[in-house]
Amino acid sequence: MSNHSGSVSSTRMAPEFLAFRDFLETSCGILIGEGKEYLVESRLRRLMAQHGLGGLDQLVQALNRPGSRALRAQVIDAMTTNETNWFRDAHPFQIILERLLPEAASTARPFRIWCAACSSGQEPFSISMLIEEYGQQGGRLPQGVEIVATDISTDVLDQAQQAEYDLTAMSRGLSAKRRQAHFLQGSAGRFRVRDSIRERVVFRHQNLLEGFASLGRFDLVLCRNVLIYFSATTKADILSRIHRQLRPNGVLILGASEALAQAQGLYRMERCSPGLIYRALPGVRDRAS
Ligand SMILES: C[S@@+](CC[C@H](N)C(=O)[O-])C[C@H]1O[C@@H](n2cnc3c(N)ncnc32)[C@H](O)[C@@H]1O
Repeated sequence: MSNHSGSVSSTRMAPEFLAFRDFLETSCGILIGEGKEYLVESRLRRLMAQHGLGGLDQLVQALNRPGSRALRAQVIDAMTTNETNWFRDAHPFQIILERLLPEAASTARPFRIWCAACSSGQEPFSISMLIEEYGQQGGRLPQGVEIVATDISTDVLDQAQQAEYDLTAMSRGLSAKRRQAHFLQGSAGRFRVRDSIRERVVFRHQNLLEGFASLGRFDLVLCRNVLIYFSATTKADILSRIHRQLRPNGVLILGASEALAQAQGLYRMERCSPGLIYRALPGVRDRAS
């Protein structure tokens, strides 16, 4: 997979690879760069064997047949990068704890958070743990907090909804104190997120290329480590539609290596040292509206 934002030269690519690339970009935004044929093949090998498909050309034909919805979803599952961990990058969580939750104390409605590409749940559950700890330390959130967590991959959403993690997942970003405080013994040596943490999070399937107005409006949106896979145009479109879902002065947090690029006019950057947040500018209309 490519994490660049420019166009990809198509001169040396085989027609079936080009067709697959088009399918993937149109269906989920992910761009695959030149020379990444090996990656596509390794990610799809098992799936193609399961479906008795002899190569990428046959897969492309199968994807274009009516009734290919399940296969399309399986291909997207196989092609997405679901890498995540608990409290990833640390500083966004520090900003939420020290700056955003205290602001939420004065709102007259629940503070609504959207994790827009939540993978297997570590990001929204980390926020839920933070809220639990904030309350235990005397922080006030009188109207409560709702966390909506979405992803395009049905595989990772199933894992997130199970809320059980193995030792490898548990070793990535969780302190012993948090492991002790927020998990119970699960099945087969796994660790289960406590109900009080789980119940704050609602998981939904959502492709960011499709309309998300029905999710409602949010005070905080985390859209981290997903836009890097998209073209500049797709990224600008998603960022302007996220702006419409943010309440005035609501906050957007991107991944550590991501920036606003063409959506700059819609947000005001706020330096938090360490880290950055973007405030939705009220009264600014994006190009698409
Ligand atoms: C690298 S993970 C990032 C997870 C988490 N936000 C983090 O920073 O740890 C990227 C996630 O984006 C999801 N994704 C990719 N394309 C998407 C799309 N078009 N709509 C929604 N989610 C998408 C993938 O399924 C994957 O779970």
